[in-house]
Amino acid sequence: MNKTFYLTTAIDYANGSPHLGHAYEKILADVIIRTKQLNGVRTHFVTGLDEHGQKVQQGAESEGISPQERCDRIAGEFKNLLVQLDISHNDYIRTTESRHKKVVSSLLQDLFDRGEIYQAEYQGFYSTRAEQFLQEKDKVDGKWPEIYGEVTEITESNYFFKLSKYQDWLVEYLNNNESFIVPNFRRSQVQEFLKEPLNDLCISRPKERLSWGIPLPFDENYVTYVWFDALVNYVTAAGYGEEGFANLWPADLHVIGKDILAPPHAVYWPIMLKASNLPLPKQILAHGWWMSSGEKMSKSTGEVVDPLSLVEKRGVDAFRYFVMREMTVGQDADFSLERFESRYKTDLGNDLGNLLSRLFHMITTYENSKVPRVILNEEFEQKLRLNFETAKQNAMEHFDRFQFNQGLEQIFVFIRSINKYADERTPWKLAKSDLKEDQEKLKTCLGEMVESLRLAIQMLAPVMPGVHKKVNELLGLPECENWETDLHWDYRLEGQSLGEKTILFPRD
Ligand code: MSP
Repeated sequence: MNKTFYLTTAIDYANGSPHLGHAYEKILADVIIRTKQLNGVRTHFVTGLDEHGQKVQQGAESEGISPQERCDRIAGEFKNLLVQLDISHNDYIRTTESRHKKVVSSLLQDLFDRGEIYQAEYQGFYSTRAEQFLQEKDKVDGKWPEIYGEVTEITESNYFFKLSKYQDWLVEYLNNNESFIVPNFRRSQVQEFLKEPLNDLCISRPKERLSWGIPLPFDENYVTYVWFDALVNYVTAAGYGEEGFANLWPADLHVIGKDILAPPHAVYWPIMLKASNLPLPKQILAHGWWMSSGEKMSKSTGEVVDPLSLVEKRGVDAFRYFVMREMTVGQDADFSLERFESRYKTDLGNDLGNLLSRLFHMITTYENSKVPRVILNEEFEQKLRLNFETAKQNAMEHFDRFQFNQGLEQIFVFIRSINKYADERTPWKLAKSDLKEDQEKLKTCLGEMVESLRLAIQMLAPVMPGVHKKVNELLGLPECENWETDLHWDYRLEGQSLGEKTILFPRD
């Protein structure tokens, strides 16, 4: 039996409401999963919430509630977002769940028993905002960068994980595994990062400073540091220590943002796994950021876009289409409401929406709502079918390489060519003629347009699952889809009665 394709996303911090950045990552992951499924692959898709840490503890204190209460509320918000975005995850992992605490404890104990974790005195600088120890080299122009907030000098005893011992192994691993990190330029950045010697990783915080964490199994006075807790979620959710683990682990793909690639996902995580004798994930996809006014959109910069307001205004499929169409995976993109509106009106309203409504209108009026039989095969038709084959081939290749914006562009080139075909064939004129030849052209044109629409919608399915479902219902097609069987020009809808004409993307 083939292994299930196991995909994870970053687990979001439970210290604020979700914004466009969080929404984008979950949509990207969902589109990848749906693409796999359409290619006949069995999948498992996990996302979740990262609930421990100082900021969560402080946030709860300032609200006068318990950290768990605060996490529960934020988990509600993030989970609701997933529903609103039509995300098809199979599991939602929260790091405060007992299944997770058990796995973190067991991995830590094992590493401690085998001498991979040791205790030492630490003296240095600490940033509360970043929850991280800093070194002189982190200063810019002699000052601590803004992102670290207040930095204080402290001395404390802590536990360390022997990261440096594995540096050479990791360098070699990255050299030998070109596709481990995509896009490729991000792998080069990690390789660059590894040119500096690695320090061992401090994995603990004294309980008196941070109580909201998972206790170290070998020393109750400490809790684990954020990454040793958070990264482990990927194996917890795969059922570490249980039957069936091997069917999911190693993960096939971790989808994360570029800010948490190096060091957490590309350095700490592979080394943690290696030291634990567990296989490494097959691939890490690091996407870029949604920016606003030239800065990363985040809670601390203040300017955030609420995905739910856009979903409410234009519908979830329009929102999903926009983020996938605008972002080159791996690069940053600037959010602009004007772009969003323009994509909505042009691509979705004019190109796709109009195609559907004019076609349904004509079939209802001229053909009594039944899909006519295609009779002719002239140059116009041949060109249209060629456009489909080209779009299909290109789009599938782009999708395989996670270049969804280019894949969508190809599909819309095809959609525009269907409208052009109609403008050339002019069925509204042909309908007025009684000539047999014109009637044949009319039927052919409408039959070809239905088939083209069906195929375009199939290709859009991973990005716009709602539109796909709705149009399939109007076309009288069963819901279950598979690209290998369905992406063929075979006039399967001939004779089919169509549903009522619908406006897919209404104007204000
Ligand atoms: N909790 C950690 C991840 C732990 S994974 C074991 C974390 N959380 S986060 O809430 O800050 O970010 C969650 C994901 O959202 C990250 O992959 C991050 O890159 C992504 N984004 C947050 N803001 C973003 C943008 N403005 N644009 C795109 N994605 C960004 O990091």
